[in-house]
Amino acid sequence: MSGLDSLDALIGSSAVMQQVRTQIERFARSPVPILILGETGTGKELCAAAIAQLSGRHPFVPVNCATFPDGLAESELFGHERGAFTGAVRVHIGVVALADGGVLFLDELGELPPAMQAKLLRALESGEYRPVGSNKSMHSHFRILAATSGDLQQVIAGGKLRPDLLHRLGAVRIALPPLRQRLEDIPQLATRFLHLYLERAERGPHRITPEACAALMQHDWPGNVRQLRNIVEGAAAVAGGEDEVGLPHVLQFVGPRMAPREDGVPSLAQARRSAEQRAILNALGQVGGNRERAAKLLRISQATLYRKLGARAQRSA
Ligand SMILES: Nc1ncnc2c1ncn2[C@@H]1O[C@H](COP(=O)(O)OP(=O)(O)OP(=O)(O)O)[C@@H](O)[C@H]1O
Ligand SMILES: [Mg+2]
Repeated sequence: MSGLDSLDALIGSSAVMQQVRTQIERFARSPVPILILGETGTGKELCAAAIAQLSGRHPFVPVNCATFPDGLAESELFGHERGAFTGAVRVHIGVVALADGGVLFLDELGELPPAMQAKLLRALESGEYRPVGSNKSMHSHFRILAATSGDLQQVIAGGKLRPDLLHRLGAVRIALPPLRQRLEDIPQLATRFLHLYLERAERGPHRITPEACAALMQHDWPGNVRQLRNIVEGAAAVAGGEDEVGLPHVLQFVGPRMAPREDGVPSLAQARRSAEQRAILNALGQVGGNRERAAKLLRISQATLYRKLGARAQRSA
């Protein structure tokens, strides 16, 4: 995979995703740490992989701090010597050593115990660390990328992230937008996931109908891109030997309604806005997310389309 391919893997031509791509390109080649923020399933690991790829450093070592077994975070990070503790029957190489010369991506950084955050900071500053049970310092030089999926202010206020580590890692931040703020990327994403599904399945549909796409674009996507991927794969499996994923296949997973229900009678302005949004999403669905063609279909300028899409993103933020 070339650097370009890895950035290409991050699908989405919405304005917000273009900004993300620009940031990745701007910071990838410098050695600075990057803090990647975004809800679950927004593509933080994919973003980290793209940065690693563009930086030309190997290897890329992604780890999720939330999966470290209780009490073993230090050993997972820095490794241990044989006999360092009960159960340490053989030497263990930690991720800090594995990432030497490359990129270490620590997902869910706030799940790392505070004492380990302090040790990590020391390793970052000196390039030195000590495996558990060893009295010898080791060296590892790696670039660090970190991520957290919770609201950063809450993570800090809850004391889950040491301020000194945050200062070290958080100077450059890339925020991945939730999928509900870039619904126009759904046709492209759905098509990619269909193709990925086809690479694994023996047979399955090659296309997704505009109506099915439009239905996907009415959803809120609390699980973001991961949830979309699962649903597209589910719909493809349900469609089985048919040529296309259609509305009925998709509706088995997302249900018919999606626009938020308004209590009572909406104001005329609200009703007008939501009819307008539906028309825009429908047009985008018809043309595979291509904004130029959607604007033509709607007989408005692209600038107007952008403005209206932007207004929706702000309301759902
Ligand atoms: N922009 C995107 N283009 C293509 N695929 C994407 C994109 N964003 C996410 N995905 C896919 O969605 C799934 C989840 O992505 P990823 O693991 O990077 O999310 P995450 O933010 O790290 O999630 P978590 O917070 O749960 O760790 C993966 O299958 C990934 O390939
Ligand atoms: Mg992740």
